[in-house]
Formats: sequence, structure tokens, C-alpha cells
Amino acid sequence: LEKEKEKIYEINKEAARFYYYNLMKNKKALMYLKNRNINKRVLNQFGLGYAQDSWNSIYEYLKSKGYKDLDIEKTELVGKKKDNTGYYDKFRNRIMFPIIDIRDRVIGFGGRVLDNSMPKYLNSKDTLVFTKGNNLYGLNLVKKLSNREKIILVEGYMDVISLFNHGINYAVASLGTAFTRNQGRLIKRYGKEVYICYDSDNAGINATIKALNILMEEGIDPKVIVLPSGQDPDDFINKNGIEEFEKLMDKALNFIEYQIYVNKLKFNLVNPEEKIIFTKEISKALKKLKSPIEKDVYIDKISLATGISKEAIKSEVFGKNYKSN
Ligand code: UTP
Ligand code: MN
Ligand code: MN
Ligand code: MN
Ligand code: MN
Repeated sequence: LEKEKEKIYEINKEAARFYYYNLMKNKKALMYLKNRNINKRVLNQFGLGYAQDSWNSIYEYLKSKGYKDLDIEKTELVGKKKDNTGYYDKFRNRIMFPIIDIRDRVIGFGGRVLDNSMPKYLNSKDTLVFTKGNNLYGLNLVKKLSNREKIILVEGYMDVISLFNHGINYAVASLGTAFTRNQGRLIKRYGKEVYICYDSDNAGINATIKALNILMEEGIDPKVIVLPSGQDPDDFINKNGIEEFEKLMDKALNFIEYQIYVNKLKFNLVNPEEKIIFTKEISKALKKLKSPIEKDVYIDKISLATGISKEAIKSEVFGKNYKSN
């Protein structure tokens, strides 16, 4: 099995080199990256590449290097043709993002189309060396370059690259999948202050709440960077610059503040029924805080915001055992 894995790492690395070489020769792909403000330094740092618009170029290249079909197949870069007459390249006409682990091995790839066609991103299927939920995109560079004070969790490849492009060398992406406990443990190892900055849309908000809960279960006190509606970190930085992003970092919300923010978007506090649901939702979140002092501070805030008495919110939060003096 170790031998098998070594082979996959080796072929992946060879493929990454080929994609890089193809990128350097392809004006359209280089122009695409230029239009997205990616500079040469960062392009090289992340080892970006380009998969040609061809059904067999990576396959033929790897064959020419002497690799066997069965080994090439295990990388998931190629698929078997339906009629069993051979293989086809899975990534075609895409910008390629090698996914590299903290031991500098190429474990998989993401690929993005250069236009609006679908699917926008394609990721390698899981292989013997690649389990999506066990890895974070960019962590190899964070391990090398960051001082491990701060770490920012974002959704996408381009968000990580955009942050590095502007000198923030402590961003990682959860690879589009739901954030996992294993990823939570990795985050904890590589940053003391943890920030979440997912896309500001419904999917991003729901994913943020899940990630917050997982990180808190790891004993982290994470903060959320809130972007204007509809934007992701890459959009925001290209529009407003990195200084403005850093201002948002300074204003990042903690767990309860974020719950209040999200539920205020959802519920109209002027409507009594919605006010009740709002307060119940926040009370649920407050139960997750360990410190009674913190609970108390936020109970005051919620009471002020809703006009509901502190006593009522306290019994909601502390349950049956709560006795007012
Ligand atoms: P997004 O859908 O937010 O990407 O997906 P985006 O910001 O619009 O992409 P750009 O900026 O136009 O390039 C965020 C991440 O989710 C995963 C990828 O990892 C992507 O970076 N994803 C997204 C997929 O795996 N497949 C998809 O079809 C879309
Ligand atoms: Mn999104
Ligand atoms: Mn999108
Ligand atoms: Mn996005
Ligand atoms: Mn984006």
C-alpha cells in the first residue's frame, strides 16, 4: 500500500509539472489569471497550471513518462471510457490548482473553467492519498510562511490565493466540502486566532454556523469576518483593497455576536412572533457558552434589543434549574 501511495504522489507531481508547463505556454489561461489579479509570484507559489482542451493530453503525457494504466488510473486524473477502450482526461480546458499536503506532496487537484460553463470547479475524487475532509487548501504554505498567530478559513481556492496575493499568508480553504472535525484540528494547530470568512450568501452563512460549532467543540473561540452581501474574500479584496479587509478583520464577530447578526437578518423584531423565535434561537446559542459571565453580558444585550425581560431570557437559557433570587 505504501508503494502504491508513493506512486500516486509521484504521478501527481509529474502531472502538476505538466499543467504548469502548459500554463506557461497558454496565453488565454495566463490572461485569465492576470485578469483575476494573480501575480507571477503567487502563481508560482501555488504551482497553478492549465489542463489543455484535449481528451487525452495528460494521459498520453503520463504514458510517455512510462507510467502504467493501473497506476495512472489511481490518481483519478483520468477515467475509463465507457466501452472500455481506454482512458480520457477528466480535467480539460481548466485552470489547475494542485492540492498539496503539509508534507509537500501533491495529493489532488481542483480545476476551474475559464468561462461561465458548468461545473465551475471540478475536484479530484478521493484517492488512496486524498480525503477531502482531512485537508485544507493552502495549509502547506501556511505551515512554511505564517507565524501561526492568525489563520483565516475561507471557501475557495481563489479566496486563499487572493489573500496570499495581498500578503496575508495565513489563509486556508475547506475545499468546498462541509468543514470537518479533522479540519478543525488542523486549524487549531496552525493558528491561535481563528477567523472564518466564508461567502456572504445563504450557503456561506449556514456553513459558517456549522464551522463555528465544530471549532468551538475543539476549544477554539473563533471569529467571523462579515462581508457585504453576495461577496467572497476575493471579490471584496479586488473591490476594496486589503486595508479594508483588515478593517473587517478587526471588527470580526464572536459566536454570539454572529448569531445575533444572522438572526436579525432572518427575523423582524417588530413582529412579536418573530421576536419570540429570534430570542429562542439566541438562547439556544447562549447555552453553548461555557462562561456564566459571558452568558450574562449577552443576556443583557438581547434583553435590550428585544424588550424581553432578562428574567425570561435567563430561564430560557438556564432551563428548569434556574432560580431567580
Ligand atoms: P464558489 O462557488 O464560491 O466559487 O465556490 P467562486 O468564488 O464563485 O469561484 P470564482 O471566484 O468565480 O473562481 C467556492 C469553492 O467551492 C468549491 C471549490 O473549492 C471553490 O473554490 N466548488 C465550487 C466546487 O468544488 N465545485 C463547484 O462547482 C463550485
Ligand atoms: Mn458561494
Ligand atoms: Mn459562486
Ligand atoms: Mn466564492
Ligand atoms: Mn470567488
